[in-house]
Amino acid sequence: MKIMAIESSCDETAVAIVDDQRNILAHIILSQLDHAAYGGVVPEIAARQHLLAIEEIVTECLDQAAIRLQDIDAIAATAGPGLIGGVIVGVMVAKAIASALRKPFIAVNHLEGHALTCRLSDDVNYPYLLLLVSGGHCQTIFVNKLADYNIIGSTIDDSVGEAFDKVSKMMGLGYPGGPIVEKMASSGDKYRFNFPKSMVGKDHCNFSFSGLKTAVKRTIESFDAITYQDMCDICASFQHVVSIILNDRVQTAISYARKTFPDFYSLVVSGGVAANSYLKSELAIISEANSIRLVTPPIKLCTDNAAMIAWVAIERYRAGLIDTVNFEPKARWPISDC
Ligand code: KG4
Ligand code: ZN
Repeated sequence: MKIMAIESSCDETAVAIVDDQRNILAHIILSQLDHAAYGGVVPEIAARQHLLAIEEIVTECLDQAAIRLQDIDAIAATAGPGLIGGVIVGVMVAKAIASALRKPFIAVNHLEGHALTCRLSDDVNYPYLLLLVSGGHCQTIFVNKLADYNIIGSTIDDSVGEAFDKVSKMMGLGYPGGPIVEKMASSGDKYRFNFPKSMVGKDHCNFSFSGLKTAVKRTIESFDAITYQDMCDICASFQHVVSIILNDRVQTAISYARKTFPDFYSLVVSGGVAANSYLKSELAIISEANSIRLVTPPIKLCTDNAAMIAWVAIERYRAGLIDTVNFEPKARWPISDC
């Protein structure tokens, strides 16, 4: 069985074809570069760019997989949450193809895509604990089984990815900030600045990053003439504190999940921030201390892509969870409502 999926909920126009044996037959991601000058994604520009690119990428994917549209068993698209203009573009294209071919259409939640990526890339059985850290989301989720997700903790303000992006923007380093800050941090002193460790030690599982972001802003403003090395030290100290916060929050989530949910043996880290090697190496320490396996999908599947959407569609198709073309795209759609 083969499914084609479209992902267009933010600034990546992506199409992939995946089969039920976990083979990625085609995988194309076009990252929109037009947003860099604005320091963040501009929704209107994103939607127009998706519209311009999508048809050609669908055709390229079919060529890459060396199959015809008729050989696809179902068409899926990210139907939310995300920037609604872009989501509508992907959903409408998928619905049109599905209607023309008389094939099933499957509406996929973007967060569910990040949540199940590990089952495409690694041998991970349900249930497991998920740390979802992306540009738009920061949550710990207990993944009990397909379409059964419990949100354990969420950010009360910014997401981790957003914090990386904003720290980068404050120093004029570029967008997206995560990879830039990680690179600068590798040449910095992580103990030079003592930034606040928001939420650390709290007995609930929520996150907060706005205080940390403000502290970084004040530090940057305190310099008359900031040097490259100062910026590296800020990046390293910021990333180090993010790591302390994430480890503390994940440890609290593990303890809570162990009391509340069935036994689980894996901690999965997904979303764009999961590309960060430093954060991953620190999370490995608490996973080991809790005798839990740490699973981080390969980077190309951690950041936004359509293979993860196709994989969710395969699991849903197998379970008989098919949608109709009346499914309405949603700007907001918590994973617990899937
Ligand atoms: O999952 P994703 O591609 O898109 C969303 O659904 O949000 O995540 C993008 C986010 C951006 O905020 C980006 O700065 C962050 O992931 N990111 C990183 C790294 N690579 C990407 N954050 C920290 N370290 C990285 N290496
Ligand atoms: Zn994402």
